[in-house]
Amino acid sequence: MPNGEVKNEPGSDSTAVASNPQQSGQVEEQHRTAASQLVQEPAGPGPSSSAAARDRTYITPGAYSQREEALIKREQDGDIAFRYVLNNDDPQNLIYLVGLKNIFSKQLPNMPKEYIVRLVFDRRHRSVALLKRNGTVIGGITYRAFHEQAFGEIAFCAVTSHEQVKGYGTRLMNQTKEFARTVDRLTHFLTYADNNAVGYFEKQGFTREITLERERWQGYIKDYDGGTLMECVMHPRISYTALPDLIRTQRLALDDRIREVSNSHVVRPGLRHFQEEDARLAAATAAAAAAGGKGSAAGAAQAGDAAAGGTEAAAAPTADTDPALRRRMLDIGSIPGVREAGWSPDMVQQGPRVRLLLDEAGAGPAVEAGPEALHSFLRLLLEHVKGLEDSWPFRERVAVQDAPDYYDIIKDPMALDVMEERLACRGYYATLDIFTADLRRVFDNCRLYNAPDTIYYKLANKLEAQVNTFMAHRVLYEEDSGGGGGQAGAGR
Ligand code: COA
Repeated sequence: MPNGEVKNEPGSDSTAVASNPQQSGQVEEQHRTAASQLVQEPAGPGPSSSAAARDRTYITPGAYSQREEALIKREQDGDIAFRYVLNNDDPQNLIYLVGLKNIFSKQLPNMPKEYIVRLVFDRRHRSVALLKRNGTVIGGITYRAFHEQAFGEIAFCAVTSHEQVKGYGTRLMNQTKEFARTVDRLTHFLTYADNNAVGYFEKQGFTREITLERERWQGYIKDYDGGTLMECVMHPRISYTALPDLIRTQRLALDDRIREVSNSHVVRPGLRHFQEEDARLAAATAAAAAAGGKGSAAGAAQAGDAAAGGTEAAAAPTADTDPALRRRMLDIGSIPGVREAGWSPDMVQQGPRVRLLLDEAGAGPAVEAGPEALHSFLRLLLEHVKGLEDSWPFRERVAVQDAPDYYDIIKDPMALDVMEERLACRGYYATLDIFTADLRRVFDNCRLYNAPDTIYYKLANKLEAQVNTFMAHRVLYEEDSGGGGGQAGAGR
């Protein structure tokens, strides 16, 4: 409702009443009865209590629902209440209407006060008053219900200044829609909004597009200078006071459909392997030290008979000599969810398993590199790749502005700078396999995104060949993934 001048007011002339006065009178009477019954009720239609959907608490409400739910709770606690008010000579209703008139007069200062009084107390107008626990009116909406045309025209809407921006305006509009839908049987609201109010009305579901047939409203509602005519359609099956339940039900329905095609909601137990291995290794190491008789005093004590008998204790076994002291690999297939995600044991058989074995220029048997040697080697390899002339397209992540659709196509991006960060973390590249998988991904992504005749595609092939050559001279790989470091050959 604009803070402006009223051009004409058809509501006061005969066009506003039904063509059949007798029928019109009956309709008015029905609505008056229904309304006066509601006026006796402690509050408006209120929130739905049949919220079976609430049982499924895994759907968290959005900001809108949270605010509405908080106000619903306040309604249930009796802190606030909404009243459907008519000028039906009920003294309490008259008190509410005076309160509303005062708020509208203050919040809509450009609106002639006499005009506000006239409409608020007009018996054809309905109001929804927002009350505090002590009965003070802190906001409200007044609308004229055109029952024959099944639409209402919102004349005034305001919340007292110190109570604004707390969600009351939204809840008030939802309550008003519910009263209008259920008591007045209206299907549409129309209003002329001034520039300041258009934003508020848009957030309440009003649009500038008027779908109501022109003949149903033209000539019935007041015309305003500078106002924007806006419309809100009220769906007959939507309970506007229980919107959080509705939204939750919709989110659940959506979630159910997503669950049909995705397992992302399944949370599997975490891995115990590493903790268990730590405990097992600690126990095994302690036992070995004890058996060797050279560890702690406790170890010496546990060494038992050998030490007591005066014989010299044997050297304690180490990870090199005793397989029980080596950390056991985690079987991938035992990780919860891995098989369900499509993994199968044959997948690990693809291609030779690459492990870094130090060859020391053929001076002795190749041994698997420890973490330090692996890290140094990977640093050397990465520096080498970055230093190659052909590596320039792969050194940094692809920028969206350079290739806007890149991340739509490449779902698992990789670049040398990312690998550098991972390498700096230490521990990320625990094996050469993990590192080479990232490196291959750089090339595979490039060949997936670019056509074979592009410079990028060709550079990916060229760089990969150079990497392979570098690896072939320094890395030995095992032919058989199940082996313990025996069969080794030149890397790819
Ligand atoms: N323009 C744009 N958006 C507005 C707005 C305005 N004038 N007034 C409120 N909003 C927004 C709020 O920021 C809020 O947005 P969010 O849902 O994204 O958080 C939303 O509308 C509703 O806010 P809410 O707290 O529920 O409303 P409120 O209690 O502040 O009441 C009015 C809103 C318009 C009733 C209140 O500001 C008022 O009384 N204004 C003076 C009278 C007036 O202009 N009435 C309208 C014409 S009759």
